[in-house]
Amino acid sequence: MNTPSDKALVPFVSVDNMMRLVHHIGIEAMLVELAGYIEEDFKRWELFDKSPRVASHSDVGVIELMPTSDGEAYGFKYVNGHPKNTSEGLQTVTAFGLLADVYTGYPVLLTEMTLLTALRTAATSAMVAKHLAPKSATTMAMIGNGAQSEFQTLAMKAIVGVETVRLYDVDAAATEKCAANLAGLGVSVVKCSSPEEAIEGAQIITTCTADKKNAVILSDNMVGAGVHINAIGGDCPGKTELAAGILERADVFVEFPEQTRVEGEIQQMAVDFPVTEMWEVILGKKPGRLDDRQITLFDGVGFAIEDFSALRYVRDQVKALGFAEMLDMLADPDDPRDLFGMLQRSKTPA
Ligand SMILES: NC(=O)c1ccc[n+]([C@@H]2O[C@H](COP(=O)([O-])OP(=O)(O)OC[C@H]3O[C@@H](n4cnc5c(N)ncnc54)[C@H](O)[C@@H]3O)[C@@H](O)[C@H]2O)c1
Repeated sequence: MNTPSDKALVPFVSVDNMMRLVHHIGIEAMLVELAGYIEEDFKRWELFDKSPRVASHSDVGVIELMPTSDGEAYGFKYVNGHPKNTSEGLQTVTAFGLLADVYTGYPVLLTEMTLLTALRTAATSAMVAKHLAPKSATTMAMIGNGAQSEFQTLAMKAIVGVETVRLYDVDAAATEKCAANLAGLGVSVVKCSSPEEAIEGAQIITTCTADKKNAVILSDNMVGAGVHINAIGGDCPGKTELAAGILERADVFVEFPEQTRVEGEIQQMAVDFPVTEMWEVILGKKPGRLDDRQITLFDGVGFAIEDFSALRYVRDQVKALGFAEMLDMLADPDDPRDLFGMLQRSKTPA
């Protein structure tokens, strides 16, 4: 057995440790803190390396790599999206990610990101809604009651002040699960039997369904004036949730247009369809909501900078609190050029 040196070791956050970290901090506190890190990075948007994520599509799903760097740290996430997975007892979305030091290229954190993606997606949605939703928003319709739905609800509660969530899913069992999970968490829950019923009286409408097709979760005539739509389930070519007519009536806000035009709701529109980049709204360079009757629409597909913020947040928490194990991940020969010698010396005599 060869004992690895300190330089060989990289902190690794397992699913178990991530769950312990969330409970230690408290889920709503963590969502608020994460939203703060994400907002901070949206304010530094221009200095990041940015490219649309690298997607490998199949008939049943997609596998994506999402890299970015702020010049000091480099991060990437591996993530999949397979809507058929839940029927086989698997998650639709799973992920892991890594943060590295740009100066040495050495990884400084490896972490599970399935839970972290749900947290960062919810924190991003709520951070955006804080800027765009009507100030009086207290009711959200949550259409699609799968893995992301409770996280979305709690982030909107903690960051925007949502008090009531109106749930709808084509599968009533998903709505029952979501309602049971949210019981006692300080949100009043209304189970609905149609999307029309779910959006009654809601100032925020979140669509977070999973289906590999151009679905119409919201048709044009369903959406009245003065709402904020948080559309996050449509995030792949050929996978959308909204009728095109809604996009024509709304002001559309996006993360990174080059990626959203391929993956988001706006893939249905002309290539020059006008959109506003969210970082410009946050910096006060472009207006967000202008009046009470406007329909604002966040066409959220998930961008690498949000995962970078989440990795940065977990790195800081791990430094302060632990909740990581050390992985023997990097070869560290005594003489950096003698990698082969290290291998030879590690041979146990027969
Ligand atoms: N934008 C982002 O950053 C981001 C991040 C994570 C996930 N996502 C996407 O969000 C979606 C949901 O993810 P999840 O992990 O919650 O998936 P999930 O499979 O756990 O849940 C999806 C739910 O949608 C329901 N559904 C499907 N079609 C519906 C319809 N027509 N009307 C109402 N409900 C319907 C399903 O029954 C299921 O309960 C996926 O498409 C995923 O790719 C986006």
